[in-house]
Amino acid sequence: MSEVVKLERHDNIAVVTVNSPPVNALSAAVRGGIFECIKSAIDDAQVQGIVLTCAGRTFIAGADITEFGKPPKPPGLAEVLSLMESSPKPIVAAIHGTALGGGLEVALACHYRVATKDAKLGLPEVKLGLLPGAGGTQRLPRAVGPELAVKMIVGGDPIGADAALKAGLIEEIVEGPASGGEAFARKVLAEKRPLRKLRDDDSKLAAAKADRSIFTNAVAALTKKSRGLEAPFAAADAVGAAIDLPFDEGLKKEREGFLKLMNGDQSKAQRYAFFAEREAAKISGVPEGTKGRNVARVAILGAGTMGGGIAMSFANAGIPVTLIETGEEQLKRGMGIMQKNYEATAARGGIPADAPAKRMALINGVVGIENVGDADLVIEAVFETMAVKKEVFGKLDQYAKPGAVLASNTSYLNIDEIAKSTKRPQDVLGMHFFSPANVMKLCEIVRADKTAPDALVTAVSIARKIAKVPAVVGVCDGFVGNRMLAQRGKQSEKLLFEGALPQQVDAVVTKFGMPMGPFAMGDLAGLDIGWRSRKDRGIKSEIADALCEAGRFGQKTGKGYYKYEPGSRAALPDPEVEKLIDETLARLGRKKRVVSDDEILERMMYPMINEGAKILAEGIAARPSDIDVVWLYGYGWPIYRGGPMFWADTVGLKHIADRLAFYAKETNDPSLEPAPLLKKLADEGKTFASLAAPSKAA
Ligand code: 3HC
Ligand code: NAI
Repeated sequence: MSEVVKLERHDNIAVVTVNSPPVNALSAAVRGGIFECIKSAIDDAQVQGIVLTCAGRTFIAGADITEFGKPPKPPGLAEVLSLMESSPKPIVAAIHGTALGGGLEVALACHYRVATKDAKLGLPEVKLGLLPGAGGTQRLPRAVGPELAVKMIVGGDPIGADAALKAGLIEEIVEGPASGGEAFARKVLAEKRPLRKLRDDDSKLAAAKADRSIFTNAVAALTKKSRGLEAPFAAADAVGAAIDLPFDEGLKKEREGFLKLMNGDQSKAQRYAFFAEREAAKISGVPEGTKGRNVARVAILGAGTMGGGIAMSFANAGIPVTLIETGEEQLKRGMGIMQKNYEATAARGGIPADAPAKRMALINGVVGIENVGDADLVIEAVFETMAVKKEVFGKLDQYAKPGAVLASNTSYLNIDEIAKSTKRPQDVLGMHFFSPANVMKLCEIVRADKTAPDALVTAVSIARKIAKVPAVVGVCDGFVGNRMLAQRGKQSEKLLFEGALPQQVDAVVTKFGMPMGPFAMGDLAGLDIGWRSRKDRGIKSEIADALCEAGRFGQKTGKGYYKYEPGSRAALPDPEVEKLIDETLARLGRKKRVVSDDEILERMMYPMINEGAKILAEGIAARPSDIDVVWLYGYGWPIYRGGPMFWADTVGLKHIADRLAFYAKETNDPSLEPAPLLKKLADEGKTFASLAAPSKAA
């Protein structure tokens, strides 16, 4: 008998229960267990109806991703589903938690589905660079119609039980999954309902068969943001096959698409990213069993760009916030921006109409740092100067409750230094959010010298609670993300002096898959910030300085490295900038040359990877995958390239080290010399993954 799937008989009902923690994924053992139990139930003359349910926190959450890319083990999921769908006895899937991917496909092969109120049902394969590979693209459109099916399959977001009931994906909402499933099975038998096999039911496809635009419009709306990704388009094709082809042929088409994606580079990278994200939440060097502190209320200092976004992130998760400013004026401004932001999202349909009021009610705006007293976590997001930060943390010592975790959102400053201004350095750490903080998922958790393990665990778990992706990093200038970004910034600036134009550099970077190039990003952030800081430090950057001297501060002045039409964020190349660059180069006696796109890509990416190697060698990041998580969720690195360190392995470290050495010489730039760790790995023919990959990544 199976260890992970058990069969019980309650009179004439067989109850098949999957129990394979943590998420009942469809490992070979689970597939085998289901097959065996269903077959026994079919063969048992006493049994008239069958319920498939799960123990633990969730229904089957999908195929076992750790098995992907490895030799397949029997039985295949298709074989299990075929046995179930052709069962002469009705099978009811009783769902709780999350029925995702292969899990929902199992349920779709059952004749009926019931679910608890809080259940979520979805086909998120596309987020792993895949398409549903066990009939989901063929059965779901038959269950709910192609429009919603496209939304769920191409978009990848699950729906709740209420929506599932409305769409006909489930028959009933039940209290307990197993008892509800059993009661429903008895009803089916009592009412002598016919077996509902989705494969044989084309009724919901009729409209799209007659008018294919129903399908193509739904696809167009969802693939708008899928630039560079293969899976959403392949998934849409598979749903199209459900409309155009008989079931079995559609199934075949789906299988081909699934296998192609699974063996492709994009899905490998996306599966890696899935495990990298989960690995990043595991903190190295913290005693096992360390418990986080309870966080019931948060105080945020500063209601500016970051403080406001951070406050919204907590309110979105239902956690009350005290938002503290220095004066009424600043507070009013900050509260107003949040209110407007929420209203805009509600107007777009992104949150319910009553959400803005509910969420704003969780944010208590006040003036004066003495109001931090009831917070279990204080996040400082005031001006980026050490003196100001030290003053603030000194006051926190006086006003914050004992044991409160004291976090700074500083972008660059030394947290050890900040911690010294308190008598409780064990409570101090960094929580570095990314702008816009209510949208970007990354939170770099900066572990300072004296940070206590339980303070660190608190920060990581609260970050997850507010739907951020935490990555623990050490103290250094700019931490992981901004420190690597600085290397790219340095090269992008140098490239202008050699003959490249901002639009050429940005085009290479966006073609690679980044959302923005360095110059468009500079225009967005404001060029005056760097200009002022350079002036303070007595540093020159001839082209950037000349732009600022001409009043070109970026988007906010309608001109920067690009020009912007009033009210538009579209970056338009500007001949005036080209002229300004030419004049600057002429003045400095620099010769222009043709810079190839290949060189631009190498000089944008390889110096960042080199810095990543230094970061690893210094222990600022514990794992290469943590660096990848920083770039995926903080800077929009294309998920289908896995992250810079993952991507570097696919390019080959030897090649990268050689090219860096070449550019170091060619451009007379010692900072491009390959880092010792990169050189060592390259010489040994190794990869970053050989240091420490997320343990489960295929
Ligand atoms: N396979 C293998 N392991 C899985 C898994 C899966 N499908 N889903 C989750 N896990 C593991 C995680 O790696 C994690 O392991 P760890 O504790 O050792 O780090 C553990 O289960 C718990 O996962 P989370 O930390 O993510 O737990 P949450 O409670 O936050 O979330 C979840 C649960 C919503 C189920 C989330 O894990 C999830 O989204 N999982 C992936 C779901 C998915 O993509 N399913 C489709 C798979 S592809 C497929 O089914 C193909 C089919 O069409 C043939
Ligand atoms: P901001 O200038 O928009 O906001 C700072 C706010 O802090 C102002 O409203 C100011 O009135 C308030 N303030 C100053 N002293 C205060 C005090 N003692 N008590 C309470 N409030 C006080 O600045 P921004 O951009 O929000 O940055 C804040 C911090 O976040 C900085 O450390 C910055 O480096 C960091 N950061 C900024 C990012 C960005 O993209 N803007 C990204 C990540 C981090």
